[in-house]
Amino acid sequence: MPQVTFSLNGRDTSTLYEEGMNFLEVLREECGILSTKDGCAPQGYCGCCTILVDGRAALACLRKPESIAGHDVITLEGIPEEQRRTLARAFVREGGLQCGFCTPGIVVRACSLMNHGGASDPDKIQRALSGHLCRCTGYTRIVDAIRSAGEAWENGGDLPGAEPRQPHFFGEAIGLTRTSPHSAHSDGIGSSSHRYRGEEHALGDKPYVADMEIDGMLHAAAVMSRHPRARVLSIDPSAVLSMPGVERVITAGDVPGQRYVGLIRPDWPVFVATGELTRCVGDMLALVLADTRFHAGRAAEALEAAVEYEVLEPVTDPVAALDPDAPQVHESGNLLEVCSFSRGDVEAALAASKHVLERTFTTQRIEHAFLEPEACLAVPTTATASRIRLKVYTQGQGVHDDQAQIASVLGVPPETLEVELVANGGAFGGKEDLSIQAQTALAAQLTGHPVRTVLTREQSIRMHPKRHPITLHYTVGADAEGHLTAVRARIIGDTGAYASVGMKVLERAGGHSCGPYRVPNVDVEATTVYTNNPPCGAMRGFGANQAAFAIEGIMDLLAEEVGVDGYDIRERNILGPGDPFATGQLMTASCGIRQTLEAVREVYKGARYAGIGCGIKNTGIGNGMDDSGRLLLRVLEGGAIEILSGYTEMGQGLFTVLRQVVNEETGLDPEIMSVRTASDPRVVCGMTTASRATALLTAAGQIAARELAADLEHAPLEEFVGKEYFGEYVCDFTTKPGVRTDSPVTHMTFSYATQVVILDDEGRLERVVAAHDVGRAINPLQCAGQIEGSVHMGLGYALSEDLPCTGGHPDSLLLRDLGILKAKETPQIDVILVEVPDEVGGYGSKGVGEIGLVPTAGAVAGALHAFDGVRRFDLPMSDAPAAAASVPKSRRVAPVTS
Ligand code: FES
Repeated sequence: MPQVTFSLNGRDTSTLYEEGMNFLEVLREECGILSTKDGCAPQGYCGCCTILVDGRAALACLRKPESIAGHDVITLEGIPEEQRRTLARAFVREGGLQCGFCTPGIVVRACSLMNHGGASDPDKIQRALSGHLCRCTGYTRIVDAIRSAGEAWENGGDLPGAEPRQPHFFGEAIGLTRTSPHSAHSDGIGSSSHRYRGEEHALGDKPYVADMEIDGMLHAAAVMSRHPRARVLSIDPSAVLSMPGVERVITAGDVPGQRYVGLIRPDWPVFVATGELTRCVGDMLALVLADTRFHAGRAAEALEAAVEYEVLEPVTDPVAALDPDAPQVHESGNLLEVCSFSRGDVEAALAASKHVLERTFTTQRIEHAFLEPEACLAVPTTATASRIRLKVYTQGQGVHDDQAQIASVLGVPPETLEVELVANGGAFGGKEDLSIQAQTALAAQLTGHPVRTVLTREQSIRMHPKRHPITLHYTVGADAEGHLTAVRARIIGDTGAYASVGMKVLERAGGHSCGPYRVPNVDVEATTVYTNNPPCGAMRGFGANQAAFAIEGIMDLLAEEVGVDGYDIRERNILGPGDPFATGQLMTASCGIRQTLEAVREVYKGARYAGIGCGIKNTGIGNGMDDSGRLLLRVLEGGAIEILSGYTEMGQGLFTVLRQVVNEETGLDPEIMSVRTASDPRVVCGMTTASRATALLTAAGQIAARELAADLEHAPLEEFVGKEYFGEYVCDFTTKPGVRTDSPVTHMTFSYATQVVILDDEGRLERVVAAHDVGRAINPLQCAGQIEGSVHMGLGYALSEDLPCTGGHPDSLLLRDLGILKAKETPQIDVILVEVPDEVGGYGSKGVGEIGLVPTAGAVAGALHAFDGVRRFDLPMSDAPAAAASVPKSRRVAPVTS
């Protein structure tokens, strides 16, 4: 084995390494340096593995170990403690981190800037961030954090006294006031309490699943299908079993229980067996176990190349897939589901309408690109002669769903598995389905060893479900003044190889097809179709984004026909209390869409090139499914409190908010509280999805914390060691669209937003103003951060992001080809929080996680039209000047015009 000698964090270091390793692998696997994260190695695009080499920032995954010989390497662990603390405090204080996976790499970059005198200059910071991706924050608060740390460093280490940039609260001008601007407690409801474990995240000290090591652990690597539709003729592991370090290969024949899993429909095999057909290039064929990740990965690559197939023609077009003669992706056929509902008489209303518009809109497939690829660690705990119990550490979005599905694969009762969701490095819906959890647990069950699997970025893109590409055909009527009279929508979505939650996404697209507008006659049909493309499922917005792009485009066209501007046409159609949503659900007094619209009136009307978009998004799954929040408070030895729930932290700030609830009700210091997500049966709640966790768990937490507060009136906390306090909040009154016509309630509640996108005189993004009704801003800094990050994602959705596929294969598996906006392409984003409290959910809160990008693409389309007069009906709008810098060169296309 080759050897390299260098200085690591001031210590002379000499280490052996495997031929073919990159320097990130050497640091993580041979030197035990875990602050350097692997987000895309060896693509060299995410920046998570940034280190200092001779004082200059460099990407470890792009360096060969031999190139480091004799050099001075500093990782985050080796940066002077005072500088580390200054940076960590600045990131937490300014809200510059969410999931935190990108942050250690950025902190190293910031350190380099500080050392070279650029950390107080926003332009230099933005340029320096070109080597980094952040999928959560929208970058602006990262720039703030680095600048704040840079100024502090120049001034001797103290952070400036000024408060971080807070969102603007809107309301007094129209008679609203903040619901409760001042809590009795400094970390209570309405305070921008510091992020839970924020400094640990910033410094790379908080372990993600891929950082967790257990003695005797085996490493596993996935073998996936190379063809989207092929018969597997043979998977012969004999050659790889003699490769270095390889212990075992696991295939379909090793599965003792159910081989098919699925959140709604169990149609997804954890392994495709020899003789069966593959359905996409993310299908798993085998799992290779070895002594190191490097050995497992090498062997998996070799086995993947050795699998023999009979390659068949895939079905890749959802319309063609519905042809009776099309190849069938599943035995049940290619039609997964049709959701349809109607109100009134659309035909008659269209016939009587002054204006009738008919247009087709298309949207693209989007990769989540969470920075932390999928990882799972399964650890045998106790063994009896007949049964091994397992603890499974995963970074999914549904601890109890993971537990039930893993147990079904292993053929064991769910209670024999303890599952803990480790706060993850971003998810955005893409970690709802099982990925490699069941296979990893199976490997631990079969070998009796702890087993850890970590997907590569390329495998992650191949495997997990995407945002649906959807085609939406609209026929819309309006009277002479532009009041909507009817909407007919025909919607078809490509859900790819597996159902995932695809039928619910299309159901949601149909339900949101009229946006936040009053429409008396509605006729909607939304169809979900299987193909051999990568599977599609949940992604932030969940069908509402696609529908919003269409209905906002219709509103702009209607404004032009009527002769008013984008604001006025929306103002005369906007939903108010008592008006019906598309599904017929009547809006309540908590409907704050009008207030968000009014909040941006002046900025829209005063800008030269501006577009406006309104959005509505369900909070809670609804549509006939229960929404529940269950939470336990435990008093621990030493005066500590553990908060336990079934919802996971993925950067949205849930754990921080739960501590605020307990502080609000009891006055106890958040520093004594730890928060965990685990598969305790008392906190069963379903997936962390549908922007619901904060609303539901703050309601449940309030109940539990008030009981604790009542006890604390009689005795100090130490008297209650061992006692548990339970809170539960359940919404069980919704129905599917179309099931009831008499005042149906399809969702627990909604959130609302209006956004204005402004272009400069060159047609480039200049500013976004995002006014959001959040019901109650439990943590204003985190609220604003969620919205800024969503807007950033929405701008990419509008202009540059895409995951095109040819013949069922993604055209590229590189992060750089996804079209995600970098820091210097992200405009100023100004958040306005509007608080119209909800009658359901804790403290009046509504969902925030998804709504932030629902109106964005429509507002961008309006702004582009204001600039160049071109109407755009297809996403991404990559011909636009505003997209020029961010669309990968290979995908720049001719203008799309009508
Ligand atoms: Fe940057 Fe999550 S905080 S990727």
